[in-house]
Amino acid sequence: MQMDSFDKLYLDELKDAYNAEKQLVKAIPKMVKAATSPELRTALEDHLEVTRRHVERLEEIFQDMGKPASGKTCKGMSGIIEEGQEILQEDGDPGVIDAGIIAAAQRVEHYEIASYGTLRTFAQMKGDTKAARLLEETLNEEKEADQRLTQIAESSVNIEASDVDEDEWDEDEEAERGTGGTQPGRSMSERDSDRRGKADGPWT
Ligand SMILES: [Fe+2]
Repeated sequence: MQMDSFDKLYLDELKDAYNAEKQLVKAIPKMVKAATSPELRTALEDHLEVTRRHVERLEEIFQDMGKPASGKTCKGMSGIIEEGQEILQEDGDPGVIDAGIIAAAQRVEHYEIASYGTLRTFAQMKGDTKAARLLEETLNEEKEADQRLTQIAESSVNIEASDVDEDEWDEDEEAERGTGGTQPGRSMSERDSDRRGKADGPWT
């Protein structure tokens, strides 16, 4: 596409955000499955619903413009999701994994906050007050999601994660494998695959 007008740039940015949201609708359920903290799982589930609304809002804007919504892959979001997916596949303490999921989810939110801030301002510049209002609603919901993740991290998940000591974790695992363990005879990889079984493969 020749980027020779503000309208084209606006449409291109809208398509980028639309594709990013569609990627997230697929990725968030995988984060939910990998998360252990009930508070974090609920926050992610709530944000999945909110993300579906973001998709609908963008579709409404495309419809009002008489333009197609598809046609672009958001490489930025693909990269953030791909990197975040690594934590879902790691072995380790569930609390530490949760802290990593929050870190990944907040990178997603900040990317979206940047996108929607720009889009809202572009819509205002064009004098499209309806689109500007819809984009601002989404922007505010992305900010709320980010703040909620910060609150969960600071009030519980990060505190629990920072209590996990690598050597202690190894000792606990040894004890479980030895006599008197809750599930003797099972290898660490078997138990880990149970936990990881909650996340069925990559996010996308
Ligand atoms: Fe969103």
